[in-house]
Amino acid sequence: MKKTKPVSSNSRDDADIDLKDFFSATDAREDRWQQLHAVARALSTQGNKPELSQRVAELMSEIQPLETYWAYPGHALLAEARELGSNGDAIAFARLTERISRALLRGSYRHDRSVWEVAEESEGDEEPAGPAYVSDTGERRPYFEVLVVRDSLTSEQVQRNTEQLRKLRRPEDPFVYEPVFVPSFEDAIIGTLCNFNVQSVVIYEGFQYRSQFSLPILRSQLARHLPANVESIAPEALTTGLAGAIRKLRPELDVYILTNAAVESLAAKLETKNIRRIFYDIEELMELHLSILQGVNERYDTPFFANLKKYSRRPIGTFHALPVARGKSIFRSNWIQDMGQFYGVNLFMAESSATTGGLDSLLEPTGNIRQAQDKAARCFGAEHVYFGTNGTSTSNKIVVQSLVRPGDIVLIDRNCHKSHHYGLVLAGGLPVYLEAFPLNQYSMYGGVPLHTIKQALLELKLENKLDRVRMLDLTNCTFDGHLYNVQRLMEECLAIKPDLIFLWDEAWFSFARFSPFHRRRTAMAAADILRERYRSEAYRAEYEAFQNRLGKLNPADKKLLGVRLLPDPDKVRIRVYATQSTHKSLSALRQGSMVLVKDDDFASVEEAFKEAFFTHTSTSPNQQIIASLDLARRQAELEGYELVMKHTSLALRLRRAVNNHPLISKYFRILTPAEMIPAEFRGSGLEDYGPPHSNWKEAVDALDNDEFALDPTRLTLMCGTAGFDGTQFKGLLAEKFDIQINKTSRNTILLMTNINNTRSDIAYVIKVLADISRDLDGRLRNGGDTEEKQIFDARVKALCHDVPDLPNFSRFEDTFRSNPKSKTSEGDMRAAFYRAYESENCEHIGLNSKEIDERLRKGPDLVSANFVIPYPPGFPIMVPGQVISPEIVTFMRKLDVKEIHGYHAAAGLKLLKPQTTKRRSGHPRK
Ligand SMILES: Cc1ncc(COP(=O)(O)O)c(C=O)c1O
Repeated sequence: MKKTKPVSSNSRDDADIDLKDFFSATDAREDRWQQLHAVARALSTQGNKPELSQRVAELMSEIQPLETYWAYPGHALLAEARELGSNGDAIAFARLTERISRALLRGSYRHDRSVWEVAEESEGDEEPAGPAYVSDTGERRPYFEVLVVRDSLTSEQVQRNTEQLRKLRRPEDPFVYEPVFVPSFEDAIIGTLCNFNVQSVVIYEGFQYRSQFSLPILRSQLARHLPANVESIAPEALTTGLAGAIRKLRPELDVYILTNAAVESLAAKLETKNIRRIFYDIEELMELHLSILQGVNERYDTPFFANLKKYSRRPIGTFHALPVARGKSIFRSNWIQDMGQFYGVNLFMAESSATTGGLDSLLEPTGNIRQAQDKAARCFGAEHVYFGTNGTSTSNKIVVQSLVRPGDIVLIDRNCHKSHHYGLVLAGGLPVYLEAFPLNQYSMYGGVPLHTIKQALLELKLENKLDRVRMLDLTNCTFDGHLYNVQRLMEECLAIKPDLIFLWDEAWFSFARFSPFHRRRTAMAAADILRERYRSEAYRAEYEAFQNRLGKLNPADKKLLGVRLLPDPDKVRIRVYATQSTHKSLSALRQGSMVLVKDDDFASVEEAFKEAFFTHTSTSPNQQIIASLDLARRQAELEGYELVMKHTSLALRLRRAVNNHPLISKYFRILTPAEMIPAEFRGSGLEDYGPPHSNWKEAVDALDNDEFALDPTRLTLMCGTAGFDGTQFKGLLAEKFDIQINKTSRNTILLMTNINNTRSDIAYVIKVLADISRDLDGRLRNGGDTEEKQIFDARVKALCHDVPDLPNFSRFEDTFRSNPKSKTSEGDMRAAFYRAYESENCEHIGLNSKEIDERLRKGPDLVSANFVIPYPPGFPIMVPGQVISPEIVTFMRKLDVKEIHGYHAAAGLKLLKPQTTKRRSGHPRK
């Protein structure tokens, strides 16, 4: 059979598509168009200089392969640019490149038809060339692109097929799309990764595997997931493989198959989990079009928000207890009309305390809140989602209360947010506090090593307490960006206790689902992978071999700590919960939070979950927060990928810019994975992100395998080296430069990038750091070896070297331990907490008093009556019932932060009186 010329054949065969630095691949495309425009402008003013023409040719040949994967500017505009660039009118070339580069930069091709115009002379003569962004009824139609995987089409065939698809558009369509044709598996993967406009993929069965381009990094990455002889894989398997690979990268996309074969038998044979529908090729084009629109509409639809809008337009008399609803008391007010002007009328029209008439009840959802939660579950890969309107602080308490019964043992990172600790007090769970690895030099903690967790579980097993162990509670990612290897950790814990429940606090991590890089380290993705793994025959074989190797598990055997443990597939239960502050990283209003559930045994705790939800949820939840959760979900499903990839790319730019800047890096640096994660937890050896340290494949390998990874979007900036402590630098940034940050340590601040950041924001941070560095440099240089320099050096030394060690959790006082001799450390924190309710049980002693030192030396033990939480670092250095160690006192005395919850310097440390701690726990009033 004669091979037709493939669609991209007008570009260099075997050209290199440089995905070494994957994150900047899309930026690089925009940058090249900007450069092309700059050269074109020079050509138009300076005449036809050979070096300019050569640069045009070079840039065109770099741009062309990349343009294979986008609908705009598309073949016709590219052909025009090529023509004008090689021998045409320089002024027209400059105008065209300006139009294209601006349209790409601003994204105006998604709403402005004129930028699609092919020949400029035709402007205004006829119907514009681009898609109709406004429907006949005047509604705006969001634009997207459909990736069509179809073997070996000529340019003319592509054109014909594009026209065919365009003809299917109907006046009533809610969206408008353009197709992008790619001929192979590899090209489909690049299109899925690079083109964030893609919402649906249509695969015509029988495509090639290899791209015509040279893609060394992508190829080696894909090779890990496919058999060596990819060329000989049967078409159905290749189709399924492609659908699976696409959904692994972007699970939100709809994948359709078109085939000439008998669809019924194909549907029966194909692994269809990742395929939305299968069509019988050409006859079904209109069905395909309608399905594509319906698929996108399912993501676009926001049931609660839509009903709230409808509700707000209805003439409703309110006799509820909510006077601001409808805003009459505000807009007619003599004194607070500015409230109405500032917030706008819709806020008040959409306020209601009703749970009927088109609205729903958050406490007992049966209508549109339920639907909105179900959509969120699909979006975040959970089985159930519960919306929360009081932040993850409350979501955590709900989960802890619903799963933990009084007396249950909970393994918990001491650095967890305080909501977990308070949750345990309320629920009566006994914490076994786990120590995260410390980063003393920056006054912060990382995560809890797997070794520590296994050791704690094995000790509990040895003491026959495993049946009382209920949950492992960890934060992922941590405030500072440490990411657990969630999958590996859960797997090994389940090997010791197969029904262990996991609560992952993903307060900072809602966005992670929408990045193929971050997603693998989320609770829901890991739970999915494990569930599938344990159901497979291959796992059974792996487990059997493991058992034969290891024999019966003896918990006293130290060897187990070094062996990768596997759970019994017949016993293991997947019981995973995650809480997320949607408001922290997606477009939800403050306090918008979600609980994500994937639990094989949810039925057994559903009632308790409801009770806990009722306990903590307001009976007047905020409608606007609920609506914003619904909308944040819509946005995440339709443009989360674009936003998160751009946000990650910005963060990587900022990292590089600061650390490579000759002046800034003299005083400041953004800490790298090598600095934030000890080598023992970074098996890959990855030192930093991006060239020259690593390419994206190496970063993926590290994310797959290392015990800890660093979220590149959270940037810890060392400011102690510039003589600033964290709090001081935070204040300077806020007061002088209007830059707000919310976490500091003794010598660092945390710059958190988010989906709201732009390249201008990043440029501003760089400028501010450069200005501060210049100022410092000038002052120190002028000062020479004088006093100023000596003061500076001493300050840097104090901040960066004389750093107090972070104190470990000491122990619970014996009174609060059921068996003080036990090796395991769980304690009855609730008993201690409530004992302090009686003032006669408590005493206060000044932190710097001699009495403290005396008691530390001679006893009786100093026992904390409450939580003491300094900000920073923001975790409890004392919990109720905990014996205060000399290290804790030293740390407290060196602390120079203003905000310490649970401690008032004037009153001193609040302690449980020694005689009260002698009583048995749990009976504080006796
Ligand atoms: C790890 C962690 N969990 C939970 C919370 C509380 O979340 P929210 O502010 O949504 O109540 C925070 C707040 O900073 C946090 O850092």
